[in-house]
Amino acid sequence: MLARQWFPLVRADDPLAKPRQVVLLNLRLAVYRMPDGMRIGRDMCPHRGLPLSSGRIEGEELVCAYHGLRFGSDGQCRLVPEKLAPKTADCFRITAFPAVERHGLIWTCLIPEDETWMPSIPSSAGTSPLDGAISIFKLSIEPLGDSQKELALNELHRLLKEMAFGGMPNSLLSSET
Ligand code: FES
Repeated sequence: MLARQWFPLVRADDPLAKPRQVVLLNLRLAVYRMPDGMRIGRDMCPHRGLPLSSGRIEGEELVCAYHGLRFGSDGQCRLVPEKLAPKTADCFRITAFPAVERHGLIWTCLIPEDETWMPSIPSSAGTSPLDGAISIFKLSIEPLGDSQKELALNELHRLLKEMAFGGMPNSLLSSET
């Protein structure tokens, strides 16, 4: 159920000079910035499963640090080094997740159904990315049961701390707020 929930992973203005690993619901993700926007993929190279977050961005490609496969913005491999022949680029594709900007943060969902359901609130409802994130989040977990709400709020708290927001105020950690 929580895999259908949207979570913020990084600040939208994070320069992300290199790919970064962010763990969401125990799944390791690689977050990286391409020239045309932020990308989120499973932190597992489709070649041998090593972390893509160890790689680098070169121009419009993510380059895996291990054997040098190159991936385009859509996650499709564009180039396989000759030494790996006869494998071809068609064989490899990053498992990608949506990267949606709301309230100054980049959000994703592991099992997205439709990003349009993600609650949208007027900008006046929050004066900071943190206010906006918490307002969106509390709206979106309304349909969940109490224990799921608690887990979701704890996960949000952890992610906000990683974004150097200091987590959520204690008063908001309760699912009853
Ligand atoms: S593990 Fe990424 S290129 Fe081999």
